Amino acid sequence: MDIIRSVKDMQQLIIDQKRKGKKIGFVPTMGFLHEGHEKLIQNARENNDIVVISIFVNPLQFGPNEDFERYPRDEEHDKLISENNHVDFLFIPTVEAMYPSELAIAMDLTKRVDVLCGRTREGHFSGVVTVLAKLFNIVLPDNVYFGMKDAQQIAVVDSLINDLNYPIQLNPVPTVRESDGLAKSSRNVYLQEQERKVAPSIFQALQFGQKMVIDGEKNPVIIVKEVENFILQQTTGKIDYVEILSYPELTPVQTINQQVILATAVHFKNARLIDNIVIDHT
Ligand code: PAJ
Repeated sequence: MDIIRSVKDMQQLIIDQKRKGKKIGFVPTMGFLHEGHEKLIQNARENNDIVVISIFVNPLQFGPNEDFERYPRDEEHDKLISENNHVDFLFIPTVEAMYPSELAIAMDLTKRVDVLCGRTREGHFSGVVTVLAKLFNIVLPDNVYFGMKDAQQIAVVDSLINDLNYPIQLNPVPTVRESDGLAKSSRNVYLQEQERKVAPSIFQALQFGQKMVIDGEKNPVIIVKEVENFILQQTTGKIDYVEILSYPELTPVQTINQQVILATAVHFKNARLIDNIVIDHT
């Protein structure tokens, strides 16, 4: 495994591989790798000649009151995980390498961002698509792998790839969970002991909502209310949102007769957890 820190070196190595006809699979991450990230890497490994993963805590996607400074980092651990999963190139640029000067171009999203996390995390998805546009141009991937845990991110990346005609295949990967159902996340380390105990109720609440749909409930308002009640009764968290929207368009639905996402974000003392279920009701 090669560790690359320079943008130019990364780009040149990839160009060399592409000249040899190699297919490139790419997994962008912010590091502190866990089994969720590993699943993406394994998918990339199975379907490509060369696997590249990036580790870059992207300042552009963090709000002023968010956790950029204290976002968990552990490069040695990440190297080990990457090595064990047969990554070819580990790209770890510095902030200065990615943003040597103030950008003259701002990427604005006009769809899929005024809902869910986009509503409260202003500028977050602009930061995400900006760094991904850069990373895609550096890594020139044929396939990219993203986790369904961040379903809105996948919807936004889908727009990025389609609207800007990137010749890239987007591969969504199902959410990897702890044995008690809690979605694996680098931010789970922020949970206090008691919060960690009740956190699996978030997924249980979503499953409860999904069962209502399966059992015939078609009114999103009723389901959202029940899911909210479940979370409030079972956890000490504060609900940021519970929403049902079409997926991947992320538009409001009056009645559930298409593929929808049931998604939630819950604030604990030091952690904001998100989770979702896509319900295919076509
Ligand atoms: P990060 O939070 O490190 O996540 C990297 C990738 O891992 C994302 O595609 C995310 O959806 C996926 N992932 C995280 N937890 C997962 C889980 N439990 N199961 C399956 N996949 C999971 O998402 C980002 O970084 C950044 O926004 C990034 C795309 C790198 C842009 O900066």
